Amino acid sequence: MGTESETYQLGILGAGVMGSGIAALAVGHGVPVVLVDTDPGVLARAEAAVAHQVRHAALLAALPAGLPRGELFLSASAEDLAGVTAVVEAVTEDLAAKTKALEAAAGAVSAGTPLMTNTSGIPVDELAGTLPRPGDVVGTHFMNPPYLIEMVEVSRGPRTAGATLATTERLLVRLARRPMVVRDAPGFVTSRLLHPMINDAIRVVAEGTAPAETVDLLMQGCLGFPTGPLRTADLIGLDNLADALTALYLRTGDERGKPCALLLEMVRAGDLGRKTGRGFYDYGEGTK
Ligand SMILES: NC(=O)c1ccc[n+]([C@@H]2O[C@H](COP(=O)([O-])OP(=O)(O)OC[C@H]3O[C@@H](n4cnc5c(N)ncnc54)[C@H](O)[C@@H]3O)[C@@H](O)[C@H]2O)c1
Repeated sequence: MGTESETYQLGILGAGVMGSGIAALAVGHGVPVVLVDTDPGVLARAEAAVAHQVRHAALLAALPAGLPRGELFLSASAEDLAGVTAVVEAVTEDLAAKTKALEAAAGAVSAGTPLMTNTSGIPVDELAGTLPRPGDVVGTHFMNPPYLIEMVEVSRGPRTAGATLATTERLLVRLARRPMVVRDAPGFVTSRLLHPMINDAIRVVAEGTAPAETVDLLMQGCLGFPTGPLRTADLIGLDNLADALTALYLRTGDERGKPCALLLEMVRAGDLGRKTGRGFYDYGEGTK
């Protein structure tokens, strides 16, 4: 896949945890980005959030050295996506919010521009459902943080066009990511396996079997997990975790996917993990 000569401009919808991280990945690889968020507070913090993550990635040698950074353009309107060569949708994990964002993007870009959804597990074909060109929609499930985790779970919906998939894979390779294609399904592979496990870990804490830190240490020390499930929950954001579990539960009926009481209680209390400074652990200043 020779991609160096292709010119990309990436549009990203949503400047939260994932949108800002994907923007950092792209500008760090010299790809210009139009980053859109409808929340003025998030947009006001977006430039600093992206710059912080670019610095973090550079410190960890996760970006190519000596390459000029791509330009970052911030906007409150999807209309500014006109002219981009691909769009990543990274808005709240909610079917209505995603549909609205994807419809706005589809109206702004030309036919054949890949609309890549970063959903954690809403089937791609459901998201493509109401769009004028369902063949342009594909799932690109970047992991958090996107500039450190090289593999991207790509889900091909039954209507995703071959050209959409091919362009998406080339773009991911241009960003030094490794695409791994799976069939479209609720939660795909990774969320279907990971999210219920994290939900169970929260239940174990709620039942008083062990505190969060001990659960994490056991999963790391005995089972070789690189990070414990409660730290992972804090990194994901507990609001997003609850939304993604709900999406999975509604589509599979699997009770393990039903967000447990402690998770919902923490979301109601606003203890969302790293982004608010407190979740299962304390982090000082949050970003929200
Ligand atoms: N957090 C993770 O670790 C993680 C990992 C993989 C995938 N995901 C998925 O990525 C997506 C984003 O998750 P997140 O954690 O970044 O959420 P987040 O809550 O941090 O950010 C979502 C952003 O979307 C914005 N938004 C909502 N509607 C919009 C619209 N129509 N146009 C533009 N912006 C809009 C919100 O204002 C918010 O800033 C979700 O689908 C989530 O499931 C998250």
